[in-house]
This record gives sequence, structure tokens and C-alpha cells, in this order.
Amino acid sequence: MRFHVLTLFPEAFAQPLQFSIVARAVQRGQINIDVADIRDYTHDAHGTADDYQFGGGHGMVMKPEPVFEAAEATLSGYDAAERAQIPVILTTPQGELLTQKLVEELASSPAIAIICGHYAGVDERIAEGLATRPVSIGDYVLTGGELPAMIIIDAVTRLLPGVVGSPESVAGDSITTGLLQHPLYTRPAEFRGMTVPEVLLSGHHAEIDRWRRRKSLERTLEHRPDLLSTASLTNDDRRYLAG
Ligand code: ADE
Repeated sequence: MRFHVLTLFPEAFAQPLQFSIVARAVQRGQINIDVADIRDYTHDAHGTADDYQFGGGHGMVMKPEPVFEAAEATLSGYDAAERAQIPVILTTPQGELLTQKLVEELASSPAIAIICGHYAGVDERIAEGLATRPVSIGDYVLTGGELPAMIIIDAVTRLLPGVVGSPESVAGDSITTGLLQHPLYTRPAEFRGMTVPEVLLSGHHAEIDRWRRRKSLERTLEHRPDLLSTASLTNDDRRYLAG
């Protein structure tokens, strides 16, 4: 998978993705993160990439020309058929909410381009004529789209074949199953007076599965009851939730 990031702050990507699973995926050639500096595509001595808004108002707006030119240069190595398969994400609080379902869809693309919005926002013609997928990572406003871009890269990378050790750990994790994950414990069995639930030490796999399922249901009900309307629930689950 090739990620093409277009940003005014390429230095933001120098360190954060260089540890653990994403770094290993880069080393193994499973992913490639290409970071383009939008300012390289400006045409004045000051490298001006933003400007005042038409109509007045606070905050600067990213100009369309350097972003279009950066995207065209970055994607020029692909032929038209490949290019049509590549989602061009714009990170913006106005976008579609990033969910595990969207991450799965993105993971099936041959490459992904990500335009990092910054300042008050981008000129609407970038959203209209260049980006194909405006994406928000949540209902809060960040100073820029660099962290959202890293989040997208991280979430997509861990779904790629062979990146995470066992496919079961990806298939069974929080949200992917439609529910929040059950609690996890490791050694020691007792720590500062806090003990591991007996059932996990019992070796009874059916009992363990039942306990984990119930804990997932309890947590989802407590923290994300909205997920229960789309999760696939058994009659047993429904009975348990009804209490
Ligand atoms: N830029 C600023 N806030 C954002 C958000 N919540 N998601 C994506 N991009 C953003």
C-alpha cells in the first residue's frame, strides 16, 4: 500500500510513524509513506499557500493551486485506470466520520492520497474538484489534518495482510466485531490486591468465551450503546442485555 500525504508540515511525519508495527511494515515494504510538501508547489518567493477568505471572516484558507499541483505531481506516476482507484482523502471536520468500516474500505485500495487541511480550512474547489473522500476523525476540531492523516495511515496499515501477527487479533478486536473489546489481563494473577477474574484462570474455554462476550456487551452498553443497534447479537446476547 502506498500512502501519498500532501501537507504544509512534512516535518510532522518525520518521527511519529517510525516505531512499532507501522515502522516494521515500512521496513518490510508492506507500506510506503510518501510525504509531499505543498509549499514546494507555490510560485512566489514567500511560498504562500494560504490567503484571506472572500467575503471576510477570521482565519486563513489554503489556496487551491499548490494543492492541485502537488496532487497532480504526486499521482503522475499512475496511469488513468490506477488513478481512478485511488481515494483522495481530505482531512476535515466536515467530512464523513472515520469508522472501522471506512478503514476496511480504504485498506482495499491500491494506494491512498491524503490532503492535510490546515488553518481555517481549504478552498472549497479542493473539496469539489480534487478530493474524493472528505474524512473527519471525530467531532472535535484539531489545529490541522496531520494527526488525522497519521491516524488513517495507522488504522489502514494494521488491516493489511501480514502486518499484524495473527489475523484473529485483527478480526476479533474492538469495533470490528461491532462491540467494544472485553477486558484483558496478563500476569501476575494478583497485583496490588487486584485479581484476575477466576474464570480466565479456569481453562474452560466455553466459559471464558461466554464471560468475554458478556463483558463486551456490558462495556458497549455502558460506553457506546449506539453500537448495539448495528452489532450482530444472538438471542442469548439480547436476553443478557435485557438483564
Ligand atoms: N482537521 C481538524 N479537525 C479535524 C478532524 N476532527 N478530523 C479531520 N481533520 C481535521
